[in-house]
Amino acid sequence: MKHLLTTADLSYADALSILDTADQMASVSSRSVKKLPALRGRTVVNLFFEDSTRTRISFETAAKRLSADVINFSAKGSSVSKGESLKDTAQTLMAMSADAVVIRHGASGAPQQLASSGWIDAAVVNAGDGKHEHPTQALLDAMTLRRVRAQREGRPSTGMDLEGMHVVIVGDVLHSRVARSNVWLLNTLGARVTFVAPPTLLPVGMDHWPCEVSYDLDEVLAQRPDAVMMLRLQSERMNAAFFPSEQEYTRAWGLTPERVAALDAMDAPTVIMHPGPMNRGLEISSEAADSPRSTVLAQVANGVSVRMAVLFLLLSGDESTPSLSDN
Ligand code: CP
Repeated sequence: MKHLLTTADLSYADALSILDTADQMASVSSRSVKKLPALRGRTVVNLFFEDSTRTRISFETAAKRLSADVINFSAKGSSVSKGESLKDTAQTLMAMSADAVVIRHGASGAPQQLASSGWIDAAVVNAGDGKHEHPTQALLDAMTLRRVRAQREGRPSTGMDLEGMHVVIVGDVLHSRVARSNVWLLNTLGARVTFVAPPTLLPVGMDHWPCEVSYDLDEVLAQRPDAVMMLRLQSERMNAAFFPSEQEYTRAWGLTPERVAALDAMDAPTVIMHPGPMNRGLEISSEAADSPRSTVLAQVANGVSVRMAVLFLLLSGDESTPSLSDN
């Protein structure tokens, strides 16, 4: 693996290798060892053209825990505001000897362009591009689901896939790169995926996606899925005439206190996921976000381990599942 741009072409073996390595990273980080020398002398550039809290800080933490040097670049306050292009920006950062470029960009395909253009000679990691993909988010979601399953079944998560798990993804699929990365990875790992959304928030061309589609959240929750992943309603990308209104949306597709109570009444195994940032009171109630079913903060913690794994596998030069015992 030279770059991580999409989950669509991530093989089963590569996905399990990243998840197993992330488990190793988590177990090392939970011990007294907070820092590994694995990437000493390597430089990771965080190139963020769009806002981020979780992804940017977690990549920075991951790189530092592996002893890499980190350069944080934010388009706001940079020469991008003077019209500097992606190519010139990237090549300027390469002149500072970057080994990996972690890029978030509003344009779908920007990471692909960086990786395939020959402008730079560094590993490229997609940290979210437009409506296209957010592969490390899907990987941290898969790590979270694997751990839920491992705990439920009383066995280690290493080597485990998601065969037979039912994951329901709810909401603004139209604008969601998280949904797109998840559908491919969950399918590769054997999970069943159901999207639930109003018709206006489902993209055209979903026919080839490996998933089921429903408009009825209550009916799908009654199936007692293993997980319900709520997507952020990206109101900033909609106009005022968009159907449904926020009130209608919450009533039909929000994870309300009543829906959480219904899961409890059914004794459903369902965990509640959200990639963040959350619109509390819109797609997810505080009762849902803060309930014992919620994995929201576990997802954030797993994000650091997944990003450590990705940087390690891309930069250590060893494509097989690595042993950390040498470090
Ligand atoms: N989940 C996610 O990508 O969050 P940020 O936008 O805060 O990075």
